[in-house]
Amino acid sequence: MSNDSYEAETTAKAAASGNAATEGFLQRTKKANIVADVARTNRIATRLVKALNDVAREENVTYDEYNVFKAWLIKMGTDGEWPLFLDVWLEHTIEENHNADKQGSKGTIEGPYYVPNAPEHPASSTIEMRPDEPGTPLRFFGQVTAVGGAPVKNAKIELWHADDLGFYSQFAPGLPEWNLRGTFIADNEGNFEINTIQPAPYQIPTDGACGDLIAAAGWHAWRPAHLHLKVSGAGHQLITTQLYFVGDTHLADDVAGAVKPELILDPTKLDGGKAEVRYDFVLDPA
Ligand code: DHB
Ligand code: FE
Repeated sequence: MSNDSYEAETTAKAAASGNAATEGFLQRTKKANIVADVARTNRIATRLVKALNDVAREENVTYDEYNVFKAWLIKMGTDGEWPLFLDVWLEHTIEENHNADKQGSKGTIEGPYYVPNAPEHPASSTIEMRPDEPGTPLRFFGQVTAVGGAPVKNAKIELWHADDLGFYSQFAPGLPEWNLRGTFIADNEGNFEINTIQPAPYQIPTDGACGDLIAAAGWHAWRPAHLHLKVSGAGHQLITTQLYFVGDTHLADDVAGAVKPELILDPTKLDGGKAEVRYDFVLDPA
């Protein structure tokens, strides 16, 4: 990798990635046109407001603390970090609700950096990457089946992940648009084989409002290295998930609380510094 692109990537600013995440999210939800039910909004909003007031009363929160909180909430908006904040500290619970009844593969959070319509490739392909992409080459392969075991013909595997420095294309400067993002169409038996690189552990941006909270509360900003996936097929439910790597220091204390034991890969090391790992996906019926 050239010094220029290293320089560009590592000077990434929270506000830039935050605003890109906010923009993408708003565009997608506008299209989805979700309308909230009044009775349910009343119930949930009432409970949320009560929970805030309970904490303020029980902790005897002062005006100074209230004002710090208010300023921080305002900064969350100007930094564009609401998607980051919510995906780190709340999405894992929403995901549990959403996938509670599934029999197939475990899901986990989507996170703020999904971009739909990544370039499509056949079942056995290499993801888009720079010619000198740093990191351990990884052959990631497997089969997509239905809960009963039948192969899911031409299943769609969307894969996106950070590079060896922990940065995502379209959310950090200096990276090609679709770097380490792709859509793979499995063969007639649901088999796929993707060549990529192993991502690095990822630190959520620390120079914005989320980082301010982490520093102020004495927390850490790390997520274990992970592959993001959306797997789907005709007549089946889509699953959004992530896969992690055995031995990662942050498996037990992921800031986003999104690790599950079923989602940890143990790649085989091959000659020449390469690695390979199989993971089979099981989809629930639609
Ligand atoms: C965040 C980033 C991720 O890559 C992820 O998977 C979850 C959350 C974040 O910065 O909020
Ligand atoms: Fe991520």
